[in-house]
Amino acid sequence: MKEKVESLCKEIENKISLVKNKNELNNIKVEYMGKKGIITELQSGIKDAIDKKEYGILVNKVRTEFNNNYQKKLNEIEEEELNKKLESENIDISLPATHIPIGSPNILESIIEEVEEVFMSMGYDVVDGPEIEEDKYNFELLNIPKGHPARDAQDTFYIEDESILLRSQTSPVQARTMLAAGGNKPVRMICPGKTYRRDADDATHSHQFMQIEGLLVDKNISLSDLKGTFDVIAKKLFGENCETRFRPSYYQFTEPSVETDISCFICKGKGCSLCKNTGWITVSGAGMVHPNVLRNCGYDPNVWSGFAFGFGAERLAMLKYGINDIRTFYQTDLRELKSFDRRDVE
Ligand code: DAH
Repeated sequence: MKEKVESLCKEIENKISLVKNKNELNNIKVEYMGKKGIITELQSGIKDAIDKKEYGILVNKVRTEFNNNYQKKLNEIEEEELNKKLESENIDISLPATHIPIGSPNILESIIEEVEEVFMSMGYDVVDGPEIEEDKYNFELLNIPKGHPARDAQDTFYIEDESILLRSQTSPVQARTMLAAGGNKPVRMICPGKTYRRDADDATHSHQFMQIEGLLVDKNISLSDLKGTFDVIAKKLFGENCETRFRPSYYQFTEPSVETDISCFICKGKGCSLCKNTGWITVSGAGMVHPNVLRNCGYDPNVWSGFAFGFGAERLAMLKYGINDIRTFYQTDLRELKSFDRRDVE
């Protein structure tokens, strides 16, 4: 009996392992466990058995063996069926999205941000000022009285009468910041913003452009502080090997005044068309704040001194990115603007 049970168990395992679908599995169930099934009949043989206990144990073993194999196979078949069903019902629910073009920062915006970051790291505040400005701030407080010839180069657009105008430079923000500070504390600020002039637009002129003004007022400030500061920003924008130099110049609101130059990053000082064979490129005007300006804005020039500078934002961008027409920034030609897109994304 024992041997019979063992070979029966093997037979069951073998048969069930070859089954491919529920139908076949069911047939085997009928064959072994049906009313006239092999195991059912074996079970009813207990009445004739000599050792009923042992017989019972052995029959139970076959039943359990059958049930285990049967259940295992059933699970396998059902899982397979489900997978097949899922595969066949696989619907692509993704709909391609409508293409939405993503903008990128304008090149001027990027350059201004770069300059802001450097100055903020040196403790400067970034401040704003009005674009519609009073003559007083744009000219008078800056030591450019009415009728002064220095105004000629900064003719602008006037609103109603000549006392209100579109600012021709960001320098009025110097006056506003000093007056707001009250004449008794240091000032460190930069002011990027739009400026206007009555110029005909061409490759190097625009009736509206952007400047970045800077002002530092404190005690014992000298031209060497300006030189050091200019050196930092020049190296940051144009690379560590960038050299700087000052040339004497003239502005009404600074004394002494300078033009600040950087060594030509194209020819490295040898001379090329960009630097007009001088090896140097002018990037801003600057100087020590004129005592009259300090006084006009509430600071005692015997106690306080300072420096100021003014960059043209377009000029910085044109130099840095090799753009040769200022109108590029304002004509909103997407092909041009896209060529300055420096993001990694598609
Ligand atoms: N505002 C001057 C201009 O538009 C540029 C400038 C020169 C600004 C010297 C300054 C400075 O603050 O010190 O031509």
